[in-house]
Formats: sequence, C-alpha cells, structure tokens
Amino acid sequence: MKTITIFAIIAVSAPVFSQHLNRIIGGESVRPNVYPSVAYIADSSTSTICSGSLIAGGWILTAAHCLYGGSAKDTTVTISDSVIGNNPKLSIESYFIHKDYEPRSQKNDIAVIKLTQRAVGTHAKISSVRITDNMRLRAFGWGARNNSELVASTSLQTVLLETAPSSECKKNYPLFEGNGIGNQICTGKTPGNDTCLGDSGGPLMVLEDGTWKLAGITSFGAWPEGSKSSGLCGSDDVVGIYTNVNKYMAFLTTSTNATSQSFL
Ligand SMILES: *[C@@H]1O[C@H](CO)[C@@H](O)[C@H](O)[C@H]1NC(C)=O
Ligand SMILES: *[C@@H]1O[C@H](CO)[C@@H](O)[C@H](O)[C@H]1NC(C)=O
Ligand SMILES: *[C@@H]1O[C@H](CO)[C@@H](O)[C@H](O)[C@H]1NC(C)=O
Repeated sequence: MKTITIFAIIAVSAPVFSQHLNRIIGGESVRPNVYPSVAYIADSSTSTICSGSLIAGGWILTAAHCLYGGSAKDTTVTISDSVIGNNPKLSIESYFIHKDYEPRSQKNDIAVIKLTQRAVGTHAKISSVRITDNMRLRAFGWGARNNSELVASTSLQTVLLETAPSSECKKNYPLFEGNGIGNQICTGKTPGNDTCLGDSGGPLMVLEDGTWKLAGITSFGAWPEGSKSSGLCGSDDVVGIYTNVNKYMAFLTTSTNATSQSFL
C-alpha cells in the first residue's frame, strides 16, 4: 500500500506478495489551475497521509486501505493543485469502503468519502477508455518524492507512467488478472518514474478526447521475491498496481446515490 506514516511505514501482516504503500518518484510539480481535482487526505489518529480525487461536489474517491482502521473524525481533506496549506481543510461526514475489500490482497481497494460540505473545484471525470498493455498514463499525488525522505511533498506532483505487459505484472503479483480484463491496472517499464508512499488513493489518469480522465486509484507496489532493490519505489523490477475505477461504477452509484452519467 502506498500511504505515508509520519513516524513509521505501516507493515502489512503476512502479505501474499511483496508490497509497499505508494510516492511520486521522478515526477514534476503540477502547474496551478491545470489539475484542480486532487485531494490531500490526512488522518491525525494514525498519522498517515494519502491522496484522492474530487469526483462530485461533496465526494472524494480514494483507496480503501487509506481509511481502513482509521477514523472519520480525525481525517481531513484538502483540495489543492499546487501548494498544500493555502486551501481549507474540509471535514468528513462519513465514508464507504467497498464491502469486498481485502486488506491482505488489496482486492477491491476503493472507497468514497462524503465531505460535510461541497468542495470548490472541478471534479475529475471517470474515463471509459479500455486500458490495455503498453499504454501511457499519468499519476498524481502528495507522496514523498524520493526513497530517502519519506515525507509528504509540499507541492502536488505528477509523473508519466506506462502500463506494463500483463505477463510481467503476474510475476510480481500473481493475483493480477490483466490490464483491461480484471479489476486492477498494472504499470511498469518506466524505471525512475513511479508512485510511492503517500500517493495511495490518488488518481491515475488517461488521455481521452484531449482531457486527462480518471482510470485508476493508486493502490500498492509489488516486486519479485528476493528482489535486490527491496521494492524501492521507481526500481526497474517494481510494478505499480491501481484499482480500475471503471469496473466499480456500481459501487460509486450505490454509495453516493448519484447516476453513473454524473461521473463521466
Ligand atoms: C527528497 O524529497 C524531499 C521531500 O519532498 C525533498 O525535500 C528533497 O529535496 C528530495 N531530495 C532529492 C534529492 O530529490
Ligand atoms: C517520467 O516522468 C516525467 C515527468 O512527468 C516525464 O517528463 C518523463 O518523460 C517520464 N519518463 C518516462 C520514461 O516515461
Ligand atoms: C441513498 O439513498 C438511500 C435510500 O433513499 C438512503 O438510505 C441513503 O442514506 C442515501 N445515501 C446517501 C449517501 O445519501
């Protein structure tokens, strides 16, 4: 999983594969007013940070593992496209974690947050592009920018990524079903460019009709058993696994009572 803990990195008990919580490595700062839908999510009870996306006036999309075991009253959301701290901290009314979320395998790593007020900002639109192997994607997040300082970035970062061949992804994460087939998207092939700790829950976007639209939610990084890189973010043997949002329209409509059309 790709959350950041201010004091320590959360260890996943008895994982079925090697994984870490996710930061943007090799990226660049986002220019203001270009991507106004990315959220910074901070939980003061667990001292973790995550990223997310504004998907409707009062709704934030994020990863289930960002909220699992946390508390709504200690979690705040800030929507910003440049420097954190300039914008108000919004509070949470409630959140919905997918009922089939599995903390061990990170299956169905998706959740929505209902804010106590409507947030100002343009919401991200969900893409209906079918994701295939070897496709260009762009991730965003507030995670750490390198493996040596695991702290949140003070400016929103973005990085270009690419979906990896599904066969390669299955080697690192045997539960992977394939890009465009299963409920997850897998990236790799861009050593030095990656998401990492603190980027969990943030958007993975695809270009559709000239607009970057939401395709995935940053979930975790996976690497082969005995890897020399020990799964450091951006290593050439690490793949990134993202929840494939388009496969979860029913979850979005039932938890928010909005129509699927309103998210597109
Ligand atoms: C590592 O990340 C931290 C936090 O974002 C940043 O302050 C620092 O400049 C980065 N160091 C390098 C070498 O990029
Ligand atoms: C890595 O991301 C940077 C910043 O988005 C981009 O300029 C660069 O082309 C990417 N490199 C690869 C190999 O995709
Ligand atoms: C959605 O509608 C149902 C039935 O009217 C209601 O019980 C539920 O509270 C609503 N959920 C939200 C998030 O508004």
